Amino acid sequence: MTPRLETTYLGMALRNPLVVSASPIGKDVDRLVRMEEAGAGACVLPSLFEEQIEHDSLQVNAVLELGAESYPEALSYLPEMVAYNTGPERYLELIGRARQALSIPVIASLNGSSPGGWTSYAAQLQDAGAHALELNVYFLATDIDETSEAVERRYLDIVSAVSSAVTIPLAVKVGPYFSSLANMARRLVEAGADGLVLFNRFYQPDIDLERLEVVPNVVLSTSTELRLPLRWIAILKGRVEASLAATTGVHDHFDVVKLLLAGADVTMMASVLLRHGSGRLREIRDGLTEWLDLHEYESVEQMKGSMSQAGVPDPESFERANYMETLASYVIR
Ligand SMILES: Cc1cc2nc3c(=O)[nH]c(=O)nc-3n(C[C@H](O)[C@H](O)[C@H](O)COP(=O)(O)O)c2cc1C
Repeated sequence: MTPRLETTYLGMALRNPLVVSASPIGKDVDRLVRMEEAGAGACVLPSLFEEQIEHDSLQVNAVLELGAESYPEALSYLPEMVAYNTGPERYLELIGRARQALSIPVIASLNGSSPGGWTSYAAQLQDAGAHALELNVYFLATDIDETSEAVERRYLDIVSAVSSAVTIPLAVKVGPYFSSLANMARRLVEAGADGLVLFNRFYQPDIDLERLEVVPNVVLSTSTELRLPLRWIAILKGRVEASLAATTGVHDHFDVVKLLLAGADVTMMASVLLRHGSGRLREIRDGLTEWLDLHEYESVEQMKGSMSQAGVPDPESFERANYMETLASYVIR
């Protein structure tokens, strides 16, 4: 019997756990249709950014001229952002077009870092037809006066504000850099997250030594980056009441299998699909089916979380023991 690939994510029934992650793929509905034809279980649209929403409302209030001099940098990157995701008004149209063209769930994405009026825009994304919302809190704490407590409060305030603006399910995408990630995960869920998307991949600019310029070029991920979400999904599975989505480093069906065993409900892909297109998604889906069959799993649901740390009474000691074992196992040749 062919193994069943269905999974549940944010309370939605998906035909399989392969989700197109937020990226430029989603700004072209035809491309999304090809992803659906290749077998995607759901898709996340590219983000609409806090700065774009705030910029639009400033324009509406004709305050822009005043503000333009105070933050010229914002004005120089905004045209590029419009090219990326078409801006707030057209973003709503993108949701509508994606909904019409696709039968898989369409997840809209909102991206910001400070509490403010932009969070209420979430309601418009819902009204435009999004099945669910992914909130990406992308923030690098660089202020030496801002404590970790204040940073965490900032995340929680944003999540509460967005969560109270919508009734559709809300997933929250964050990075791994918290002193107590497990506790933060629990509080994000208490603040209104129905799911956690682990992890944001922080872009890391380089320096061009000839031109002495900072170069913020995109470097696509590799499979080795999977280890971080893999470990944390295994730790959080069964400890937070939320769906778990893995992002960063999912490149083939083995990566998908590992994450499902660790406890992911879905696995998201951007780099691999940007590099190889929808054909690769089909290969990953077929590879997943074959792997389940070969290893006598009846379904994705059956395997989900079977290698999580839910049964480990003391994950801290477990991690410490694994750490020491790993170091000790290295052999100098
Ligand atoms: C070119 C590019 C654009 C992206 N745009 C967004 C975005 O708009 N919103 C977002 O939350 N993540 C965005 N991401 C991050 C991806 O959704 C994903 O989380 C990250 O690339 C790690 O997954 P991967 O290893 O499959 O690439 C983008 C990634 C790339 C490479």
